[in-house]
Amino acid sequence: MIRVLFVCLGNICRSPSADAIFRKKLDDHPWLGSRVDVDSAGTAAWHVGNPPDPRSIRVGAERGYDLTSLRARQAVSADFESFDYILAMDKTNLNNLRAIKPAGYSGHLSLFLDFAGMCKAEVPDPYYGEGDSGFHEVVDLIEAASDGLIEQLEVRFS
Ligand code: 4NP
Repeated sequence: MIRVLFVCLGNICRSPSADAIFRKKLDDHPWLGSRVDVDSAGTAAWHVGNPPDPRSIRVGAERGYDLTSLRARQAVSADFESFDYILAMDKTNLNNLRAIKPAGYSGHLSLFLDFAGMCKAEVPDPYYGEGDSGFHEVVDLIEAASDGLIEQLEVRFS
């Protein structure tokens, strides 16, 4: 089993979207679904226990993804013992994760968009944006990176 953790700041917009989108792509895959576990977390504790932002739930549903069962939690050092891939939505979150990373971590810690094959490095925080466009952009970027990560996992298992 390979375990993947998506991390943003609040764990109510970007990383729960990645959790639901990547899970759906795994479920739709002919054989990867039973071999990969997915979770998400935030580097901040503000929203611990809360469901995703209503805008993420609504835009996700419009795009075919169900975020309703997810609840926010904070990323902790112990996550490095459980997860093979820890994927940050932006550079601030990546730096926050590096600060709690145990010295011997042998898994993969990087920006999630490294897997998207695009010039863009970060999934922009949509929380303070006007309207839904930022939330749709989050889905667009996460879909692209998810496809890239699926390709890498296919190679890893083959
Ligand atoms: P996320 O977005 O990191 O994608 O979940 C945010 C959610 C909440 C806040 C900031 C970003 N906040 O400031 O409460």
